[in-house]
Amino acid sequence: MTKIPKTYRVKSFGCQMNVYDGERMAELLAAEGMTPASDGADADLVVLNTCHIREKAAEKAYSDVGRLRRDDGSKPIVALAGCVAQAEGAEAKARSSLIDLVVGPQAYHRLPQMVAAAAKGLRPVDTDMPAISKFGALPARRKVGPSAFLTVQEGCDKFCTYCVVPYTRGAEISRPFADVVAEAEALVRGGARELTLLGQNVNAYQGGLDQLIRAIAAIDGLERIRYTTSHPADMSDALIAAHGEVDKLMPYLHLPVQSGSDSILKAMNRSHTAESYLRTIEKVRAVRPDIAISGDFIVGFPGETEEDFQATLSIVDAVRYASAYSFKYSARPGTPAAAMEGAVSAEVMDDRLQRLQARLAEHSLAFNRATIGKDTTILIDRKGRLPGQMIGKSPWLQSVFVETDAMIGDMVDVSVTHALPNSMGAILTTAKAA
Ligand code: 5AD
Ligand code: SF4
Repeated sequence: MTKIPKTYRVKSFGCQMNVYDGERMAELLAAEGMTPASDGADADLVVLNTCHIREKAAEKAYSDVGRLRRDDGSKPIVALAGCVAQAEGAEAKARSSLIDLVVGPQAYHRLPQMVAAAAKGLRPVDTDMPAISKFGALPARRKVGPSAFLTVQEGCDKFCTYCVVPYTRGAEISRPFADVVAEAEALVRGGARELTLLGQNVNAYQGGLDQLIRAIAAIDGLERIRYTTSHPADMSDALIAAHGEVDKLMPYLHLPVQSGSDSILKAMNRSHTAESYLRTIEKVRAVRPDIAISGDFIVGFPGETEEDFQATLSIVDAVRYASAYSFKYSARPGTPAAAMEGAVSAEVMDDRLQRLQARLAEHSLAFNRATIGKDTTILIDRKGRLPGQMIGKSPWLQSVFVETDAMIGDMVDVSVTHALPNSMGAILTTAKAA
């Protein structure tokens, strides 16, 4: 291969952090003069921005790589990026001859040079995790949608025993306050009305996430601020106070609990108990009674008994989650939990996941139903399936369907009329008055 690529495609899997990284890689390639491949067309360069959280993540990534070989036997330049790239490193080249370069999440500011090297037939690998952040080496952001992500913190020092993030994303590191505020200002100038501050442990942000939120709230033209993902142990009183004081901070908090059983939480190395978690939720609700709480859950962690699982159902009932993600435990090689005894059988895991999801759906529906009749504002972010129908996000992050001629990026006043577990219907407030 000796051709500098002209077109690229970045495929991101997994979390919002990866979506953000994928956007930044695309911007880097565009800054080099490459253009995104149009839908359906072959790209000269394909970046697979992989996720390592799920089971068989590496196998899935290699089979995705395999599918990039074209019918005529040719192939694009293939860049393996993201957390699988970090975990596999140079090994990836041995496992698939189709891979031309391997770039980890902390090294992608060097992607253009690596692509140039790959075009010369080299197979560069960079999975360094330098102390100096990549962000300074990235180009300024230009055109953005109405709702944009902004990474403020990366990595994790918590070492939950089931999780690969501390290994794939490295130690916790926060971006400098002034850099984040400058990027926020640039995003708002570029059209963003909502910013979601991202971090694997965003509320451990070094300059104080509450301070950062207050500084960003002062940006004219910015209407909404969100942040994710938080750890219960870092939910400071100052951050909680911001929920009661900063109008632009949306009434939504993603605060994973994982389990309601203290012995399982201990085995997970979560550093919170069911009770300390509930106390935090109480404090947040004291300053923002309408807040939507969302969570993550793992069922079938090694040693989980039916009694432990019942404790998880109890905490679900106590918190009344507005939304949640729930997973069956799956062992990640190299993590402490992978060596733990007491594996839970597949049948029991399936059964518990089903019962948990049924319970979570009841609470989502109850939360959504409680919004019926309320007047609120949605930020339109996409078209609905029906003609004239648009979908926007409520302050509580619900997807709301409405008939309107408003455009993507508009904020419209609505009155909520319907509720399903995962979506809502509404009419324009002006239409109601008419
Ligand atoms: N097995 C199952 N779920 C996991 N998660 C992280 N690691 C694992 C694992 N090994 C879930 C957690 C986390 C979410 C992003 O993914 O619930 O909060
Ligand atoms: Fe993984 Fe725990 Fe860190 Fe979250 S807090 S990224 S689950 S180690």
